[in-house]
Amino acid sequence: MHFKTVIEPFRIKMVEPIHMSTEKERRNYLKEAKNNLFLLESEKVIIDLLTDSGTSAMSAQQWGGIMMGDESYAGAKSWEKMRKAIFDLTGYDYILPIHQGRAGESILYSQLGGKGKVFISNTHFDTTRANIEYSGALAVDCLSEQGKQPALEHPFKGNIDVKKLEQTILKHGAESIGAVVLTVTNNSGGGQPVSMQNAKDVRAICDKYQVLFLLDCCRIAENSYFVAQREQAYKNVSYRAIAQEMFALSDGAVMSAKKDALVNMGGFIALRDKKIADACANMLIMKEGFVTYGGLSGRDMEALAIGLVEVFDKDYLHYRISSTTYLGDKLTALGVPVIRPIGGHAVYVDAKTFYDHIPVDEYPGHALACDLYLKGGIRACEIGSVMFGKYSESGELIPAQMELVRLAIPRRVYTQSHLDYVVETFEAVLAEKQSSKGMKIIYEPAFLRHFTAHFARLLPEYASVV
Ligand code: F0G
Repeated sequence: MHFKTVIEPFRIKMVEPIHMSTEKERRNYLKEAKNNLFLLESEKVIIDLLTDSGTSAMSAQQWGGIMMGDESYAGAKSWEKMRKAIFDLTGYDYILPIHQGRAGESILYSQLGGKGKVFISNTHFDTTRANIEYSGALAVDCLSEQGKQPALEHPFKGNIDVKKLEQTILKHGAESIGAVVLTVTNNSGGGQPVSMQNAKDVRAICDKYQVLFLLDCCRIAENSYFVAQREQAYKNVSYRAIAQEMFALSDGAVMSAKKDALVNMGGFIALRDKKIADACANMLIMKEGFVTYGGLSGRDMEALAIGLVEVFDKDYLHYRISSTTYLGDKLTALGVPVIRPIGGHAVYVDAKTFYDHIPVDEYPGHALACDLYLKGGIRACEIGSVMFGKYSESGELIPAQMELVRLAIPRRVYTQSHLDYVVETFEAVLAEKQSSKGMKIIYEPAFLRHFTAHFARLLPEYASVV
């Protein structure tokens, strides 16, 4: 018998209460938080879809591992377990522990980057780009054309455009290329996967021009699921073997383990090249900690070693991707415009289309994120002109390319009924769609304004916020 419902393949052993609130209470909470969801205490949120990073629920096995943590400064047993788990998966000899992805990026790109260097990616994640640019180097995105069309159905919208990749190498000269970085899955492009064929094409180009090929692999298990489902040649290959093949094609990787290693903190840099690894190790000791713990405690390393194996479980990955698709498909059926097809870790709502009566300089994405909170206590993240908008010299907003709201799904945390509740919240927001108003920024810092800016609604009843 074929069951329609894909159940959560786990039982719940430990629970964390959700504090329920009323719409009236949330109106006050949001006012106190200056209409910025980042300034809201998590207790005031019912379903937190701000990020899938560091928000996973750990398994009983991982919690068991925590008790076994060896907290020795040097040569801890827990480090050996973590090193072995990463080696078994990646096949790389040189492995360095780090406390999270951006710490690894800062170390690696400070060594590979610098003025005159160029890095090419499908899409550099924000912290990756920031670390590359901070080193003085240039970060160039070469996403495939399909990846730029939100409504287009295509199996691998995370692919890099290999023609543009080669042209970019030729334009800058192979010797100035710091590395090609494939982000799998492509977070900034909607959590869309990269095909194995695309990774093979990148390998061939990197061989031709003797360029380093790296993976930003924080969601590689989810990417492997899509490869097995959508790339004929990998139909019968295990998810783990697919990931191993992708690592075999590349020269190194940085992982924020806060995603697909199912832990709340952790990461690694893994490399084939000893010289680069030695240079990074010096920086690691200076910035993060000794080479057998990075910024991690022994118990973190135990949990990471176990999570990195668990994440490839076929029932887990099937449930994981199915639940994201479940939410995305239900929203699509309601008429909510979302990036298609549904990606791995999140559903991305096109707020410009959803709130087509709110102009971009009144931040439709932010308005929608606030409405989802008011109606259902859901916390989502605007990825649009609040996050990426800039000002022209005359002070006018230069909007972001898209006005998106990301509903990122923490791993193993919410059940199908939680997702049904999210869908119902959208129904309520849709019912009052036309009466929703835009937002105005009333305070903003010089950098990364989305984290701390204050907003006011362009509505009389919110005027008191100003
Ligand atoms: N690379 C990608 C593709 C990411 O999505 C992230 C983090 C990082 C690197 C940096 O890792 O947070 O451990 O320092 N993404 C989170 C998100 C923040 O919400 O998408 P980190």
